[in-house]
Amino acid sequence: MSVYQATASAPVNIACIKYWGKRDTKLILPTNSSLSVTLDQDHLRSTTTSRADPSFQKDRLWLNGSEDEIKDGGRLATCIKEMKALRKQLEDKDSSLPKISGYFVHISSRNNFPTAAGLASSASGFAALVASLAALYKLPTSQSDLSRIARQGSGSACRSLFGGFVAWQMGELPDGSDSLAVEVAPREHWPDVHALICVVNDEKKGTSSTAGMQRTVDTSPLLQHRIKHVVPERMAAISEAIRARDFDAFARITMQDSNQFHAVALDTEPPIFYMNDVSRAIIALIVEYNRVAVEKTGKLKAAYTYDAGPNAVIYTPKENVKEIVELIIKYFPQAENFKDPFGLFGAAGVQGK
Ligand code: PMV
Repeated sequence: MSVYQATASAPVNIACIKYWGKRDTKLILPTNSSLSVTLDQDHLRSTTTSRADPSFQKDRLWLNGSEDEIKDGGRLATCIKEMKALRKQLEDKDSSLPKISGYFVHISSRNNFPTAAGLASSASGFAALVASLAALYKLPTSQSDLSRIARQGSGSACRSLFGGFVAWQMGELPDGSDSLAVEVAPREHWPDVHALICVVNDEKKGTSSTAGMQRTVDTSPLLQHRIKHVVPERMAAISEAIRARDFDAFARITMQDSNQFHAVALDTEPPIFYMNDVSRAIIALIVEYNRVAVEKTGKLKAAYTYDAGPNAVIYTPKENVKEIVELIIKYFPQAENFKDPFGLFGAAGVQGK
């Protein structure tokens, strides 16, 4: 008897131009385009196995070992349904293919990092889910086409189907067919940019991105300004900075956009606070680090960015990674468990504790 099973994994992506706001909540169509970097190390990934079997009684999903309900008409159900429909189209065209689109699926997904702590676990999760079903069903579908389906699971998931620098084009059509992810540049184009993740708090966040966005769309005048007058130019400028490998411009735009996203959260009624005092202290550290760098060389050396949670992501060229880790460890004593996974500090161990 044949076993129909496939495993795929997808990494987290961290936005430089933030997606915040839906113009269609069912199809998950955004109010602005966004752009992110997909992280390429093994530390922040979701790995998902999907299996189709005639003996299964219903579609089921386990997340980190515990079963999660697949609600009728919910996001998971939508993604699974769309993937089955693509398989069905293939089977209709080629009668030699096994008819597995009619079988129920069991899906098991694991994150190797804290779930729902502002570390984009839904992005890697839905991207891995769609990728594993695409592998199970042997779909010839392009990554951009799959991104349209992952988008309906969690908006930012569409960007995790590509590595490197990725744009999610908001699109214009009401059916969402032009709202998809495209590659701006592959990782190899600019391997020098590294991301440092500072986990300030790994608990589940207070206001989910779905609830937060809805409230912002309903109440924030600043969001309307951002959508119309800020993001389009920023998307063009940061894409250009990436193509030109211009870290100074990339960093400036990334920090501006993180700041505006959190300003929009604050402009929401009631206001939403995703950053905490430690997050703000990390911003102060990077601002000071950059001030000294600009005095010496005229150029920025690091960029902070924060999603819907307190954890910092710091983008920086490789040559600065060690220096920044030392600063973080020096000023944030809770980092004393730092494990040095990349051997940055060699045999001498971690400095500056
Ligand atoms: O895809 P969601 O619903 O988890 O929303 C993600 C929103 C941000 O992470 C704050 C920004 C982004 O573009 O990833």
